[in-house]
Amino acid sequence: MNNTLDTIMNHRSIRKFKDEKLTKEQIHTIVKAAQQASTSSYIMAYTIVGITDEDIKMKLSEVSGQPYVKDNGHLFVFCADLNRINQQATSELQEKMQASIESTEKFIVATVDTALAAQNAVIAAESMGLGVCYLGSLRNNISRVNDILELPEHVIPLFGLALGYPDEQPEKKPRLPLDVVYHENTYANDEQQRSKINDFDQQLKEYYKNRKTNTRIDTWSEQMIRKYSKTIRMDVTQFVKDKKLNKR
Ligand SMILES: Cc1cc2nc3c(=O)[nH]c(=O)nc-3n(C[C@H](O)[C@H](O)[C@H](O)COP(=O)(O)O)c2cc1C
Repeated sequence: MNNTLDTIMNHRSIRKFKDEKLTKEQIHTIVKAAQQASTSSYIMAYTIVGITDEDIKMKLSEVSGQPYVKDNGHLFVFCADLNRINQQATSELQEKMQASIESTEKFIVATVDTALAAQNAVIAAESMGLGVCYLGSLRNNISRVNDILELPEHVIPLFGLALGYPDEQPEKKPRLPLDVVYHENTYANDEQQRSKINDFDQQLKEYYKNRKTNTRIDTWSEQMIRKYSKTIRMDVTQFVKDKKLNKR
């Protein structure tokens, strides 16, 4: 192990932060680390919006329904951004690029780029002794977040990231067995896989039963099937198309 691996392997989401703001220097270090992530064709198809206005934080917290969206050391909103390259072109060239910018392929490029930058930010923050929590909950009302942040065409808010000094020490959450997520050469869709996931379900049941807070009786399989048996945030599909992304 080394320090980088220690940081990565010690990850757990933090949802309770001390009342201490990050300094501008800390914020800039984290953003610079995000920027150093690999990026498809050098496009850097993301914008990170840092929220320093308490009123905006409050509004975003209302969208998410989660108190740690406002009670933290800093809040980022990670946006997939194909607006920037459009801005650089004349209207004639914009027309030429339209089909490409609106394609599913470029939508994938932008969302992957954004996620890579975000995870670099997470590792940087955790290496600095900070805790983080990703916030997909901002998509509970994606149009509202879009309006609050005044995002232009071709830019969508993907998720938030709350950061700060941890005021809780949750246990590490178990992960699926390595050979369930790592297959060699071809996809291993066999009975063995299912039995390994069944074993993991039993391990997770013990974890949920024995952890310090929020104990419950649950398994990974039951949790996933329960979640995916109902649709949520179906407005996101139309929202993305209205922002002129993932249209063709
Ligand atoms: C893109 C993304 C969105 C997430 N959204 C939320 C969220 O809205 N609220 C929350 O409490 N946790 C959120 N999480 C955190 C996950 O629940 C958490 O990473 C997962 O349960 C594993 O737990 P761990 O991070 O403590 O290991 C999100 C994680 C990711 C990657």
